[in-house]
Amino acid sequence: MEYFEELLKKPSLFQDESKLDMNYIPDRLPHRDKELSLLSQLFLTLITDPNSISRKILITGKTGIGKTVTIKYFGEILKKVSTERNVAIKYVHVNCRKERTSYKVLIKIIRVIKKNFPKRGYSPQDLLEILIDFLNQQDIHILIVLDELSYLINKGEDLIYSLTRINDDSVNFQERLSIIGIVRDLSCINNLDYSTVSTLQRNIIKFSNYSKKQIFDILKYRAHLSLKENVITDDLIKMIVDSTYLNGDIRNGLNILWKATKIAESRNLNFINTECVRLGSQETVPFSTLDILKYMSSHKLLFLFSIVKGLKNNYEPTISFLGILKRYRIICENLELNPRSNSQLWNYLQEFKRESIVIIEIISEKVKGRRALIQIPEINLLKLEDIIIKILQSKGLKV
Ligand SMILES: Nc1ncnc2c1ncn2[C@@H]1O[C@H](COP(=O)(O)OP(=O)(O)OP(=O)(O)O)[C@@H](O)[C@H]1O
Ligand SMILES: [Mg+2]
Repeated sequence: MEYFEELLKKPSLFQDESKLDMNYIPDRLPHRDKELSLLSQLFLTLITDPNSISRKILITGKTGIGKTVTIKYFGEILKKVSTERNVAIKYVHVNCRKERTSYKVLIKIIRVIKKNFPKRGYSPQDLLEILIDFLNQQDIHILIVLDELSYLINKGEDLIYSLTRINDDSVNFQERLSIIGIVRDLSCINNLDYSTVSTLQRNIIKFSNYSKKQIFDILKYRAHLSLKENVITDDLIKMIVDSTYLNGDIRNGLNILWKATKIAESRNLNFINTECVRLGSQETVPFSTLDILKYMSSHKLLFLFSIVKGLKNNYEPTISFLGILKRYRIICENLELNPRSNSQLWNYLQEFKRESIVIIEIISEKVKGRRALIQIPEINLLKLEDIIIKILQSKGLKV
């Protein structure tokens, strides 16, 4: 009891802590007006002339620069305007890293229209047909956002092909479906078939990186929403901007802001000082990586763990693929698990590269994989190891 009593007596420096949450959608998005206005222009016809067109848009840009939040924000606007005008438009935001297969993506989409739709018992092809039937029966248009689309593309799933082509062979058709794909890097779409690429390439919106001044405005706004007045000065926000600007991920800025406030609270201060920001900035595992680790499969985590272990015990900053394999097998043996195949592990490695966790240097193209050197340049290994161990433990694996 008295622990709580003590804490409750302390005045909090937060006005509303949840407004620093990564998934919170604020009322304003400073410096994304241009993108929101462009999206509104592109989707206007959905409201003025329902089901006459189907829009397919691709959003691209670096990590942490507001792609997801801007599209979600746009989804909210679209829902409001369509309700006001009695146009039936549904919006569904799917994260393809979390919904890893066509099947899961489709279930998620269908459940926006029919809440209790059963999760099992259909093939993806069935689901696609069911989706179209629902849309036709209920006279609805749906805007499907496929966020982190590269995860679906790289698995060779043909869902994107099917979705972009849904109306091609129907008679007397109504355009029922629009798509927004979000990717960090455009190169992944080249793995799709030619016609899908050309469909998607017609409308690309590139989100530019924020400047220092823009990051300042954004962080100041988020601080204003979440902290009490006079808890942080502009100079300290600038200090956070300096730590954020380098990799540009606004999440890091929000995270530092949150930690600095917590540190100030724990020291019974009435405001944040330089020391709090300095300590708060010492986070060495980027927030985007933490999120990726949380959703990683056990074997992939074990493989990453082997890389971290290998690098930690190495004098060199790099480790060879072969070296990692050895460690991985030993770890699997200790856990009495069957190791994944080398080619699967090589795929994991490519995924780590895409997720900006590792850098791979190919020494010799001839024996691909075996002559690759791997490095984890930007993340503190001790912290990363610690986090992986905790996640593995939560999955029942003691390494
Ligand atoms: N203009 C902005 N105004 C307020 N908050 C913002 C703005 N831009 C980004 N943010 C915040 O920064 C964080 C990262 O943004 P978001 O998740 O949209 O990045 P992203 O571009 O989708 O990154 P990733 O490629 O890693 O998915 C979110 O918490 C978001 O709310
Ligand atoms: Mg995103």
